[in-house]
Amino acid sequence: MRESGGMQHYLDHAATTPLRPEARGAWLAASETVGNASSTHGAGQDARRLLEESRERAAAVLGCDPIEVVFTSGGTESINLAVQGLWHARAAGTDAIVMPDAEHHATVDTVEALLADGAILRPVPVRPTAAIDASAFAARLPGAALATALIANNEAGTINDAPALASAAAAARVPLHLDAVSALGHVPLSFRGLRGDAPDAAGLVAMSVAGHKIGAPVGVGALVTARTARLAAMLRGGAQQRGLRAGTQDVAGAAAFAVALELAEAEREAENSRLQTMRDRLVDGIRQRVPQAELLGDPRERLPGNAHLLFPGAVGESLLFLLDMAGIAVSTGSACQAGVAEPSHVVMAMGRSEQDARSVLRFSLGRTSSDDDIDAVLAAIADAYSRASGSGSAERS
Ligand SMILES: Cc1ncc(COP(=O)(O)O)c(C=O)c1O
Repeated sequence: MRESGGMQHYLDHAATTPLRPEARGAWLAASETVGNASSTHGAGQDARRLLEESRERAAAVLGCDPIEVVFTSGGTESINLAVQGLWHARAAGTDAIVMPDAEHHATVDTVEALLADGAILRPVPVRPTAAIDASAFAARLPGAALATALIANNEAGTINDAPALASAAAAARVPLHLDAVSALGHVPLSFRGLRGDAPDAAGLVAMSVAGHKIGAPVGVGALVTARTARLAAMLRGGAQQRGLRAGTQDVAGAAAFAVALELAEAEREAENSRLQTMRDRLVDGIRQRVPQAELLGDPRERLPGNAHLLFPGAVGESLLFLLDMAGIAVSTGSACQAGVAEPSHVVMAMGRSEQDARSVLRFSLGRTSSDDDIDAVLAAIADAYSRASGSGSAERS
């Protein structure tokens, strides 16, 4: 049993973040709105006003026009809409999808499903840090139907050169989707700035974000979509949101998301340096206590709250469980299929063995993290490692 009833030390902000009180307040206030934002009566128009105000506020933070913000249910839906939408609206004679090897499963699985529809995958290798090789990316673009890439890797924390990827796509006249879900709130994001003067329907045309990564509720996100993008709808029905995402709009979710976006942006620089200082203390402290531990990912170009560590010979799942018993929530970063942890495809794309890919832990710090959380990990890690590597050798024998 866990030492205390509740989770004391939440270090899994990359999975989801605690709700911000201001976002909860905005959600509750907006949830009093009765009308459907598509109705023409006064109640509908009140809802509409609040919705459009939230869209404007979101657009101001994301560096796009309000009409370019398509609210969705979160990152996975946004990515599906972008990748499937660009594929189904592709130019005649183009079949290739350019995708790096260390993308999130929402992208990987969407692209894999399109292979059955005749898509041809042009994979792009990543470096040992998980950084996308920008020149290999550019080399695969000519004649492709679309390209997609992460701005920041959600496991390794490595931040890619998004401006280089966007200008390569613009130069090749290929539409590009960027997954900004894990970058949001940490990396300065301007859709307009990244798009630059790309030709119509090419270069950066779509960017995915999710509210629950920055303290908004789970269930709201957005796909920023250039006016000139050629994108087929995934959900059909009403004509809401430029016909790209049919369905009654979530006014309260949009209001909460807009507030969270503004706060995350206002706090970004100070919060990034606070997180980085704590993260560095965590990494240094772990390496003093477990000298075998190795920090993966790029040491400099990385999300400030991310510590992605390899614990050689230990089973990541066992470490996770032992830390959980000490009231510390972390992640292995990899997906769980039918209760069995899969080795992380991201770690393997970084050139590591399957065994290494089962021996990683991701600590992700965020708004509610404090030095207490770091102290708790440092107090527990050496014992957890010796126990988890014991079970690791037992399993291997
Ligand atoms: C980089 C990245 N893309 C996509 C997703 C999926 O987003 P959501 O959980 O909002 O569906 C996540 C969530 O972990 C993510 O980190």
